[in-house]
Amino acid sequence: MRKYSFLEPITVGHMTLKNRVVMTAMARHIATADGFITERYCRHYRAAAEGGTALIIPGIMAVDSTWPYISNNQPWLDDDKFLPGLTRFAAEMHAAGAKVAYQLWCSGLAGTTRSIDDFTLADIARLQQKYLEAARRCKQAGADAVEFHIAHTYLPGQFLSPAWNHRKDQYGADCVENATRFSVECMEQIRDKLCDAHFDLLVKINGADFVTGGVTPQWSAAACSLLEQAGAAMFTVNGGGALAKITDMSDDGHRPEGWKVYLAEEIRKQVHVPVAACGSIRHYDYADRIIREGKCDLIAIARGLFAEPAWVQKAAEGREDEARRCISCMFCFTSVPEGVAGCSVNPYAKREKDDPGVVKNGAGRRVAVVGAGPAGLEAAYRLALRGFDVTIYEKDSAIGGLTRLAAVPDGKQKLLWLADYYARQISRLGIHLALGRAVSAEEIAATHPYAVFVATGSQELTPPIDGIARAKSVRALLRGEIACKPGARMVVLGGGLTGLEAARLAQTQGCAVTVLEMLPENPGANLETKLALGYARTAGVSVRYGHKVLAVTPDAVLAETNDGDCTVDADEVILAMGLRPDNALAQQLEQKQLRVYRIGDCDHAVKISSAVQSGCDAAQALQ
Ligand SMILES: Cc1cc2nc3c(=O)[nH]c(=O)nc-3n(C[C@H](O)[C@H](O)[C@H](O)COP(=O)(O)O)c2cc1C
Repeated sequence: MRKYSFLEPITVGHMTLKNRVVMTAMARHIATADGFITERYCRHYRAAAEGGTALIIPGIMAVDSTWPYISNNQPWLDDDKFLPGLTRFAAEMHAAGAKVAYQLWCSGLAGTTRSIDDFTLADIARLQQKYLEAARRCKQAGADAVEFHIAHTYLPGQFLSPAWNHRKDQYGADCVENATRFSVECMEQIRDKLCDAHFDLLVKINGADFVTGGVTPQWSAAACSLLEQAGAAMFTVNGGGALAKITDMSDDGHRPEGWKVYLAEEIRKQVHVPVAACGSIRHYDYADRIIREGKCDLIAIARGLFAEPAWVQKAAEGREDEARRCISCMFCFTSVPEGVAGCSVNPYAKREKDDPGVVKNGAGRRVAVVGAGPAGLEAAYRLALRGFDVTIYEKDSAIGGLTRLAAVPDGKQKLLWLADYYARQISRLGIHLALGRAVSAEEIAATHPYAVFVATGSQELTPPIDGIARAKSVRALLRGEIACKPGARMVVLGGGLTGLEAARLAQTQGCAVTVLEMLPENPGANLETKLALGYARTAGVSVRYGHKVLAVTPDAVLAETNDGDCTVDADEVILAMGLRPDNALAQQLEQKQLRVYRIGDCDHAVKISSAVQSGCDAAQALQ
C-alpha cells in the first residue's frame, strides 16, 4: 500500500489534523431560505467527514444576512437562533472524526452595486463587528476554527485588491498594509477575543485575481505575512472569483491539474504556518508529489470531494481504483432541487439520504445492460456491487457513449475520466463486456435475464423542415467524419451545449461558423451553456438567437426572425436540434414480457448527471 504524504497528520494552530486533506468551502444551496442548517446539509458534509477528510469547511456563511447579496440557501451567522443548527453540524463532523471550520463571508460588491469605495468608517466598523459576532457564534457552536474568507473577490478580497479598491484613506490599496487593514483588524479582534487552545483562525485568499490591476502572487504573499501576524494559522490559496473569472476560481476543464499550486508555493515562502494548495487537484500521485516537493503542506479539495467523498479513505485502504474523479463539468454550479444529484459523477451528491449503501442480494442473478453510456455503466456498476451477474452489451467498440464525443472539443477531455473510472470497475467487479455489435431482443431473451436495463441512448432529432435532408449530423462532425475545409461557411442549427461546442470545434478547424438558435438568448442559462457560448464567440463563431429555421436550400439556410426573414449562406449545414429517445429495443424487450428498465437518454434526453442518477436508482431499486 502506498504511503501518501497527504495521509500524514499535521498541526494547524491548536488542531491536530489526522491527515492533510481539507474539504475547502463550496456553497451548496441546501440550507433553508432563511439561513438555517438542514438535515440534508449535515448529511451531505458527513459523507466527506466519514470518508476520511481531516478538516471540513462548509460553504460560505453570511456574517450579515441583511446584505444586498447573500446567495440563496446558505447558512447565516448573524443571529443566535442559528446556533442549534451550527452546533449540530459541528457535533456530527466531530463524531465522524473530522475537524470543522466555518467560513465567514460577506459578498461586498459581488451581486450588488455597493462598492467598498463608498463605505464610511462607521460602515467598516459595523461590518467588522458582524465578523466578530459571527466568529463568536461559530466558537459557541463548537467549531474548531473559522476561516476568514478573503478569496474570490468578495468583501475582504475587494479591500485587498487594487482592481476594486480605489479608496484614498487608510483602507485604500495604495500599499499592502492599507489593503489588508480591513482583514487584519477583523482578524486581530477574533484572535484576541476568541482564539484559544480550542479555536483557531484560518484564511482563504487569492494568490492572484487574474484581472488587470488585481492581486498578484507577490502582493498576496506580502499580505499573508501581515495576516499571519494577525493570527492566521493556515492559508488556503486559490484565485479568480465572482468579480473576476469564475473559471479561474474553479476551472472548467481547460486547465491542467494543480495549475494554481504555484500560488500556494509563493505564499509558503513568506509565512511560517501551513499552506494548503487548491484548484483542480484530482489525482493521488499528484497530491502526494506537491507535498513531498514542498510546494504546500496540505491539499484543499472542493469538487473532487463532492465527486468522491471517500477520496481519503480509498487512498488509505489502497482502493485508489475505486475513486470517482471530478470531471470539471461545472454542473455543481447549478442549483438542483431535492432528490436530484448535484454532481455529474456522484449520483448521491446532495441527496445522501437516498443512498441505501450496498444491499448485497443479487445472488448471482443474471442481468443485461444494453448500452455503455453513463446510465448503463452506472447501472452495471451498482448491480455488480450488489452481487448480480452483469453483462454489458455495447454496439460501439468502446465504452462511454456520448461522453466520448462530448470530450472531443478542446478543454473537454476530462470527460473521458468518467469512462476510465467505469472501465476500472468493470474489470474489478468482473462485469462481462460485449463490445462492437448491436444485440437483438431475441439474443437477450435467449440468455433468460432476470432483468434488462436498456440504456440505448438517443437519436438526433430531425425536425420537419424543408430541405433538412441536406443537414449532416453533429455527431458525425464530432467524430471527425465531416471535413472542416478552411474558409467553408458552416451553419449549425441549434444553439444548445452540443451545437455550441461543435461550432467552436469547426471554427477552430478553419470553418466560418454561424449558429442559429430559435429561442432568445437566455441570460439565466446554466453556467455550462454560458461558458460554451463564451468560448464559441471568442473562437469567432457567430451565434444568432431568435432565428427560427424555415428551410435549408442547396447553398443557404432561411430563417425567420422578429425583424423579418433572413438568409445565411451555407456550404455545410449541421443539425444539432436536440435528441429523441432511442427506445426501439426497450419496446421489443417489453413485448417479450421481460423485466425492462429504461434509463438515461433512452428514457428521456438527459445530462450526464441525470443519466448517472437514473442508472444508479434503477439498479438500486431492483428487488
Ligand atoms: C459550486 C461551487 C461553490 C463554491 N463555493 C465556495 C465557497 O462557498 N467558498 C469558497 O471559499 N470557495 C468556494 N468555491 C471554490 C472552491 O472552494 C475551490 O476553491 C475551487 O472550486 C477550486 O478547487 P476544486 O478544483 O477542488 O474545486 C466554490 C466552488 C464551486 C465549484
